[in-house]
Amino acid sequence: MAIRRGHFKTRLGFILAAAGSAVGLGNVWKFPWLAGENGGAAFLVIYLVIAFTIGVSVMLAEFLIGRAAERNPVGAFVRLKGGAWPIIGYMGVAAAFIILSFYSVVGGWTIAYAVKTATGLLETPETSALGGLFAAFTADAVEPLVYHAVFMALTVGVVSRGVGAGIERACKVLMPVFFVLLVVLCIRSVTLPGAAAGLKFFLAPDFSKVTPGMVGAALGQVFFSLSLGMGAMITYGSYVSHKANLPGAALWVTSLDSVIAVLAGVLVLPAVFAFGLDPQAGPGLTFITLPAVFSRMPLGGLFGTLFFLLLFIAALTSAVSLLEVAVAYFVDEKGVGRIKATLTVGAVIYLLGIPSSLSLGVWRDVTVAGKGIFDLMDYVASNLLLPLGGIFIALFAGWVVYPRVIDEATGGGARPFRWAPLWKVMCRFVAPAAVAWILIAGL
Ligand code: PHE
Repeated sequence: MAIRRGHFKTRLGFILAAAGSAVGLGNVWKFPWLAGENGGAAFLVIYLVIAFTIGVSVMLAEFLIGRAAERNPVGAFVRLKGGAWPIIGYMGVAAAFIILSFYSVVGGWTIAYAVKTATGLLETPETSALGGLFAAFTADAVEPLVYHAVFMALTVGVVSRGVGAGIERACKVLMPVFFVLLVVLCIRSVTLPGAAAGLKFFLAPDFSKVTPGMVGAALGQVFFSLSLGMGAMITYGSYVSHKANLPGAALWVTSLDSVIAVLAGVLVLPAVFAFGLDPQAGPGLTFITLPAVFSRMPLGGLFGTLFFLLLFIAALTSAVSLLEVAVAYFVDEKGVGRIKATLTVGAVIYLLGIPSSLSLGVWRDVTVAGKGIFDLMDYVASNLLLPLGGIFIALFAGWVVYPRVIDEATGGGARPFRWAPLWKVMCRFVAPAAVAWILIAGL
């Protein structure tokens, strides 16, 4: 029996949805803080190299696997090969639960900060005061959990209706607005007195700072930021028309996502230096520096509110793709209704997120292998599960179903795919070997 599946209407709609999944808190919240912790420009260079070699190749592999199978990540491996391969899909579904649990906590922060900026609660240029406000907010045992619930409820609301015209249309308008606002804010940030040191830190690489741990962090960030290694792009690829040119789409999405990450770095890091903050401040970095930037510009309250609202939307479109992976699995494979699947999975992920949030406050002292719960969730997913998934996705596309996916890439030979030989080598050898090497060196 043929199951009727959703479809993106246009290639542009597909690219925007995939970019909506990629562009999110990973770019604006996580990237500047990781770059700050890992030597700035050297991290940026390594990040970009990995993104445009391994990242873009794995993304294309995911698109092609998804479209060839027209299934969720578990079903896709079952349909194309079976055997032990579906394990990769199950790992992806597990990663969706883990990532969305803490992602939704941070998504809640963006809503809270939109509200706090709009009501003038953050109107102080004093970064020490802002640091205190951030620490007090995230350490609270109730407030962040309420916003976490709001964020999760909105994600559930979108996914339960299907990733249809609503989110596609919203992305088309809001993502360009987000981009323009990002550029305006970058200009304010780099013209702050004292910003030059931050720009230099972010743009003039000092390669003596390269360590295996830092390369591992860059790799994890590439997978996280491009939504790779867990089947989000397999799932979205399964909804795209057979006429769309997927190699081009993979390049587009990788480029858009990288540009936004670089802009976020240019926004946050000069401000960090201008205000004498420590670039190693960790997950709070963006939430502490940005309000300080806003309070030093005309109409800062307005710009600030708008910015956090748009960041919230960017986060929502990513969260939707995370939830969609798990929901598509239960809908396709277990025959659960979409609404029931969305509500149940959403509730479980909400509960999973509570320890992450509390680990920044009352459960601060609970650590596993030296990491708090929040950091542990992030680490296990981004630095272990996603790269591991990426290795096997590349191997699968390069060796196991290569003729099939090449057929998908070229529309049965109708379209040129000029970098096919390169892509083949990437998937068969370079990506798996490099990722495995980085994973091992990082441990
Ligand atoms: N790429 C998203 C971001 O940068 C997060 C994400 C990871 C989404 C994995 C889907 C899958 O915010």
